[in-house]
Amino acid sequence: MSDQPAPLSGPDFTRGVPANTVTDRPTLGHAFGEPVLLTRVDGVACAVGAVCTHYGAPLIEGRHEAGTVRCAWHHACFSLRTGHALRPPALFDLPRYRVDERDGLVFVGERAEAAPRRATPKRRPGSVVIVGAGAAGNAAAETLRHEGYDGPVTMVDPDPGAPCDRPNLSKDYLAGNAQPEWIPLHGAEFYAEQNITLRRARATAFDPAARTVALDDGGMLRYDALILATGAEPIRLALPNEGTPVHVLRTLADSDAIIAAAGEARRVVVLGASFIGLEAAASLRARGLEVHVAAPEARPMERVLGPQLGDFIRALHEEHGVHFHLGRSARAFGRRAVLLDDGTSVAADFVVAGVGVRPATALAETAGLALDRGILVNEYLETSAPAVFAAGDLARWPDPHSGAAIRVEHWVVAERQGQTAARNALGARERFDAVPFFWSQHYDVSINYVGHAERWDEIRVEGDPAARDCTVRYVDGGRVVAVATIFRDGESLDVEAAMERAAQAAMPIA
Ligand SMILES: Cc1cc2nc3c(=O)[nH]c(=O)nc-3n(C[C@H](O)[C@H](O)[C@H](O)COP(=O)(O)OP(=O)(O)OC[C@H]3O[C@@H](n4cnc5c(N)ncnc54)[C@H](O)[C@@H]3O)c2cc1C
Ligand code: FES
Repeated sequence: MSDQPAPLSGPDFTRGVPANTVTDRPTLGHAFGEPVLLTRVDGVACAVGAVCTHYGAPLIEGRHEAGTVRCAWHHACFSLRTGHALRPPALFDLPRYRVDERDGLVFVGERAEAAPRRATPKRRPGSVVIVGAGAAGNAAAETLRHEGYDGPVTMVDPDPGAPCDRPNLSKDYLAGNAQPEWIPLHGAEFYAEQNITLRRARATAFDPAARTVALDDGGMLRYDALILATGAEPIRLALPNEGTPVHVLRTLADSDAIIAAAGEARRVVVLGASFIGLEAAASLRARGLEVHVAAPEARPMERVLGPQLGDFIRALHEEHGVHFHLGRSARAFGRRAVLLDDGTSVAADFVVAGVGVRPATALAETAGLALDRGILVNEYLETSAPAVFAAGDLARWPDPHSGAAIRVEHWVVAERQGQTAARNALGARERFDAVPFFWSQHYDVSINYVGHAERWDEIRVEGDPAARDCTVRYVDGGRVVAVATIFRDGESLDVEAAMERAAQAAMPIA
């Protein structure tokens, strides 16, 4: 994300370009000082903004197909005709411009009004309640309105920082490179305009028979459709502690507390060498702290990314001065120190514990929903209770790509599930079949991961992680089930599209 205006290149479309150069492949140019993509959709010339509304990627580098463009950085998708944001993580539409075709030329004019979405829901529940205002809950609320639902929508969440750009909390925000105003997904005025009630309370129980949700402020909400999106909760280590502050990282308040602790500290120990722990390690190095990472595994992130990328990530962090204590677990916290299980004591002014999360299923348990290490849902994201959907980190769904019931902790998956749950609450009967995708950022290296692999027989590495240019394929039973890339964003998009096609044709990809 950046406040800098995007640089201009290509023709000035306001002066007109030959009509025969405007094809179904977008051209990059500009109009009135703004970068613009000019293309033809169904024979009609269309112009939309050329900068992704998520973090500002140049959309000309994305994948263009069937009147849409997918962003290369984190796979958002926009309509080239209307500019509508069709798929997260982009939440805002692209600007749309007037286009005039005359005398063999195409001219781009001023910005046009946003195109209306004009959807009519199949079903109109009397009211929709969404529990949890995170990635999934926020996407669900917005989608209800995009789909033309005009009934009452209440989103319940006790966290005053929600909904926020959670992935940023361990990256630029923690490193001190993101403005605080970038963190809320929307301002309060957005929810007011959309007539979405954001109720600051915790849901404590719900009754599927009476269709009510009880709140800790004494309130009771009635629903005709309920979307559970309570996410996951960080695991807190119950170890003896003689006085070392121990932080977890899930909320904006958690990230702010770590920033405050870092301001007075020299040394930090990060427990856990997975995504959040290592992103926090990178951000705290950026703040000049001495960073030690202790974790029981032999290599960072090996369980998800395999040994080759695990070694690369370790080397990358070591280049930036991180000290690893691998194969080690914390046994206790001393007075400003962490005692490891081999007897080593590592000095620490504070600790960040990134040792995993648990799906927040307490509410579902109160109602007796079917659970299996998360809330079990079907392909429509329906739980075992009527008119109750679940989306995001807490949902275990039948993934058509891996053929398994899976639960993941990925921002974009949570948002896409929120969208599908909302449409299905309105009677759409839409299967959730998105290919799982996540990204993780370490210093200047972003890893994009498409698919899902809990196990593999073989890992095929093409290119060289150390040269920051590689594709890593995870192969199970002869099928590529997941692909990680470093600085090969176009390939990551192509793999996602190939997996979508393969699932539609029920064919493995090579
Ligand atoms: C620091 C950090 C960095 C991350 N970085 C990435 C990344 O780079 N890429 C990626 O793909 N994923 C990343 N993730 C994971 C991603 O953020 C999650 O997968 C995503 O937020 C899940 O969305 P969700 O809506 O299921 O849950 P959440 O976003 O956690 O939202 C759940 C909400 O429910 C609320 N809630 C819980 N219980 C109740 C209750 N009883 N009543 C009312 N409200 C309740 C909570 O307060 C919370 O606001 C990151 C996660 C963290 C913590
Ligand atoms: S910058 Fe486009 S999806 Fe993130």
